[in-house]
Amino acid sequence: MAAPRVVTDGSVLREIVRSVSREGRTVGLVPTMGALHEGHLSLVRRSVAECAFTVATIFVNPTQFGPREDFAHYPRNLESDVAALARERTDAVFTPTPDQMYGEGFSTFVQPPAVARPFEGRSRPDQFRGVATVVLKLFNLIPADVAYFGQKDYQQFRVIQDMARDLDLPVRVEVCPIIREPDGLAMSSRNRYLDATERRRARALFLCLERAAQLAQQGERDAATIRGHMRSQLETAGITRIDYVALVDPVSLDEVHEVKDNTMALVAAYVGGTRLIDNRRIG
Ligand code: PAF
Repeated sequence: MAAPRVVTDGSVLREIVRSVSREGRTVGLVPTMGALHEGHLSLVRRSVAECAFTVATIFVNPTQFGPREDFAHYPRNLESDVAALARERTDAVFTPTPDQMYGEGFSTFVQPPAVARPFEGRSRPDQFRGVATVVLKLFNLIPADVAYFGQKDYQQFRVIQDMARDLDLPVRVEVCPIIREPDGLAMSSRNRYLDATERRRARALFLCLERAAQLAQQGERDAATIRGHMRSQLETAGITRIDYVALVDPVSLDEVHEVKDNTMALVAAYVGGTRLIDNRRIG
């Protein structure tokens, strides 16, 4: 198992990536905030399978956290993350410090595209501005051919996809399936905040999406009816702080009144003090 090259200096990494590209080899990029789980590793595996050279980034990006959010407590375990990336045959790992990414005088931010406005954009107002900014910086520092993102953060994927299109970024943005725990809970670095009771309760997010898909498959087309069932599934499990339950068009993220073949169900809710999100196609 060859250890990946761990690089903290963006200009050094850019040179490494450029020389790989000059040799005609494809470069895959997997941006993460660390605390890696099987969801992240599935993105790395896909990149390693499809690209000659894979770079993973580990950077807990301060600009995408709100003032009352968990930036200070966000799990950080660089050593075990790098070991996991080594097992997946990652070629390079970029681990910059906040000062390297946001040096003195830093004041330029990306205004995210329209798909950033609803749902997460309403609940976590500066999140996508921070995400779009850091991802654009990563795309510039690591001129990859393909970048891989997880479907669990579906709206984030759509934001990055539209940003890449609108700003003519020469990178293909790919989305990879959600990886779930055996009971269905979507893997997330924040699942570790749940105590045993909350962890059991959290399964209801997955179950409410399953219920939505089941209703759609049985021919229910009315979005309001399906949303009602999703809410009761959550409430029955004791999840009452529901941020949103929505049925949307997968491209525009506009809410639909009538379910179609490509409709996506989105859910965000607090389980105890932990905010979780999940989604699935239900049409
Ligand atoms: O999904 C994440 O882990 C982050 O939002 C990302 C894309 C790495 C940007 O910080």
